[in-house]
Amino acid sequence: MQAVETYNDKVVRQFTIATIVWGVVGMAVGVLIAAQLAWPALNFEIPWLTYGRLRPLHTNAVIFAFGGCGLFATAYYVVQRTCRTRLFSDRLAAFTFWGWQAVIVAAAITLPLGYTQGKEYAELEWPIDILIAVVWVSFAVVFFGTIVKRRVKHIYVANWFYGAFILTVAVLHIVNNISVPVGPMTSYSVYTGAVDAMVQWWYGHNAVGFFLTAGFLGMMYYYVPKQAQRPIYSYRLSVVHFWALISIYMWAGPHHLHYTALPDWAQSLGMVFSLILLAPSWGGMINGIMTLQGAWHKLRTDPILKFLIVSLSFYGMATFEGPMMSIKTVNALSHYTDWTVGHVHAGALGWVAFITFGALYNMIPRLLGLERMYSVRAIELHFWIATLGVVVYISSMWIAGVMQGLMWRATNPDGTLAYTFIESVRQTMPYYIARLVGGVMFLAGMVLMAWNTWKTWAQSKGPAEIAVPMAPAAAH
Ligand code: HEM
Ligand code: HEM
Repeated sequence: MQAVETYNDKVVRQFTIATIVWGVVGMAVGVLIAAQLAWPALNFEIPWLTYGRLRPLHTNAVIFAFGGCGLFATAYYVVQRTCRTRLFSDRLAAFTFWGWQAVIVAAAITLPLGYTQGKEYAELEWPIDILIAVVWVSFAVVFFGTIVKRRVKHIYVANWFYGAFILTVAVLHIVNNISVPVGPMTSYSVYTGAVDAMVQWWYGHNAVGFFLTAGFLGMMYYYVPKQAQRPIYSYRLSVVHFWALISIYMWAGPHHLHYTALPDWAQSLGMVFSLILLAPSWGGMINGIMTLQGAWHKLRTDPILKFLIVSLSFYGMATFEGPMMSIKTVNALSHYTDWTVGHVHAGALGWVAFITFGALYNMIPRLLGLERMYSVRAIELHFWIATLGVVVYISSMWIAGVMQGLMWRATNPDGTLAYTFIESVRQTMPYYIARLVGGVMFLAGMVLMAWNTWKTWAQSKGPAEIAVPMAPAAAH
């Protein structure tokens, strides 16, 4: 008799725990640097605790460790269930887990020591970059290998988004990091001048488009219908959404380089594509939210659904704000100010973190053979404390950003500047403290989630072995 095939949920559980651990760490570093901006003495005059070194540690930890592990966990979970088969290779999947953790630990050591390529979101030096490339290609092999051996003819749309995210991030990472090593932890980019800037922001913007968006849309297309127990609102719209989004994102990078040495036509091209990007972004948001049609009442009682639906609202907000900020005259005001930081965190906290929380709360009990998390009230509390935290964070940054932009451009009748730079810094201080309060609330919610997960695990009989259903499913 043939042995029953089970899902490989071990690697999903490992990545899930890692998501929570790195979420706490990355956000704690975010809180520390937010406090340093209000009280610079908090660097304690220790080089590796200075703001310049901890800021890239924060961004790498939250994007690639917290966000990245969440994407690995859910991609592996979703691809197995929607393809009705076990992962292509257990050993390679285990390698992606340990390899990715090695990358994170290497980042956590080298960034505070001051090793950096000086490229935002691509700070890590060449030996770590090579490890990332090897792990990522292995991820692609496991993911696409699983798609190939699927038992269902159809490839569910969530897998299209995960697949695009995996392929594109491989290309972006490899192209942007081509450099000439001149020492064990030193290298020079092969690109120079304006070309270097263009390649960097082609990478940077598509890191937003594919790492912080496409992958999480994959999550959205699986977990929103699952949690709402409704089919996705429009399958046709999801296909249009997919092709429109991935073909437009690629061209929008130059909006990060307005008024620079980049040719003017390239800046305008970036602006136009950013404006067009509003349409597919909102198409996706509407598709997600409308999935609740006929089941709106569930929002009242289900805090997991609240996380998922509110994440889509923040996604809609950030993808409305982004195209507006890409208009050159608006960018003349917003660039270099805290408005950008507000926009970033509307997307990062409201969209990326919220959808991850929703997906994890849906998945954790199932991975442990339980019906629900240990405390549903704790999820509810997490939701409210985090929502208030985001609102406090982003509104203080919006006010600070617009104020800074207006102060920097104000002139006296004789043409001299009305304010010195330090005056704008002094005026910003109360908003930095408000942002810190918002950040502490958000971190508190994350810690609550860690506690709830711990208690859920303790309550369970340990990891659950789930058999792959043998009858081919029509859809997912
Ligand atoms: C407790 C939560 C968080 C706090 C307190 C926090 C705080 C901060 C601070 C103080 C900065 C530096 C801003 C500046 O340069 O002036 C920053 C930058 C950044 N953070 Fe966070 N953060 C948090 C969570 C997150 C999360 C979850 C993500 C991503 C998923 C994220 C992504 C980023 C990015 C991409 C930047 C760079 C922004 C830019 O260059 O404009 N943060 N954060
Ligand atoms: C239609 C979608 C979007 C467009 C057109 C867009 C556009 C923009 C623009 C114009 C900037 C400011 C560039 C500058 O002045 O330097 C920006 C910055 C940024 N956006 Fe967006 N945005 C979009 C969605 C999002 C989402 C959903 C996220 C996050 C999850 C996000 C993350 C970021 C980050 C991290 C930066 C800061 C980059 C840096 O300077 O370090 N964006 N975006």
